[in-house]
Amino acid sequence: APDISVDSVQKDLKELQSVAEANGGNRAHGEPGFKASIDFIKKKLDAAGFKTKVQEFDHGGTTGYNLVADWPKGGSADNTVMVGSHLDSVSDGAGINDNGSGSAGVLEVALAVAKEKLEPSKHLRFAWWGAEEEGLVGSQSYVQSLSQDEVKKINTYLNFDMIASPNAGYFVYDDDAAVQKVFKDYYKSKDITTATSPEVQGRSDHASFKDAGVTVGGTFSGAGETMTEEQAKQWNGKAGEPYDSCYHSECDDISNINEKALDVNTDGIAHAVWELSS
Ligand code: PHE
Ligand code: CA
Ligand code: ZN
Ligand code: ZN
Ligand code: ZN
Repeated sequence: APDISVDSVQKDLKELQSVAEANGGNRAHGEPGFKASIDFIKKKLDAAGFKTKVQEFDHGGTTGYNLVADWPKGGSADNTVMVGSHLDSVSDGAGINDNGSGSAGVLEVALAVAKEKLEPSKHLRFAWWGAEEEGLVGSQSYVQSLSQDEVKKINTYLNFDMIASPNAGYFVYDDDAAVQKVFKDYYKSKDITTATSPEVQGRSDHASFKDAGVTVGGTFSGAGETMTEEQAKQWNGKAGEPYDSCYHSECDDISNINEKALDVNTDGIAHAVWELSS
């Protein structure tokens, strides 16, 4: 897999910060900053040759949006690897770590697929979900829109929600051993030890897919929980402090990003996409 430029990911995060600032300070479901975030991502994917679709859903009397992007080269959609992240923020802030980080990381990996003209043996589909913060609403609405047959065509769903927490942990979802190993091997090659997190279970969009019987995986750098002594030694972090002290707060802005974690984790997404779609 190619090395993804962390500068490109940071540029996308700055754009998302600007989108929030131009729209009342957030990118939340039902607010103009969310739709503007969708438009920003969609434009880049369209220019790179993806087939994009915006799926609308209703939640709380407000229209929500999912962005789905299919890569036209490669194998049959009967065997699809999906990669997703939620693009909405809470209403308190710009949501740059949660989840600009996952959204921008997945975007740059998708753009790398296009740049390399990848022709994987499986089909690749990327997604940016709406209204995750309202209870995984967008991803659930997407899964519910599929027939049983279409659900079966999804080989694996990979989820990225918070990948650049300032006091970063390196957590790998343990839902599926084979997918977990793909990530663990990658981190091992970077001399980074990984852990599983009880924070992950059912708490992001992978749960919508897992509930429908799809194989899932992903990575996570930690939210509001406290880093332990042992983890602080492993990861050069701060024991007794949250992984992200700005979690769901106004200060989750462009300064709330651990660039090393952003770099390593984005390259990890690329590694998994190349490996699992080949
Ligand atoms: N889904 C949570 C949020 O957006 C954060 C989270 C991400 C929790 C990944 C667990 C795993 O606030
Ligand atoms: Ca990189
Ligand atoms: Zn959140
Ligand atoms: Zn999140
Ligand atoms: Zn709601």
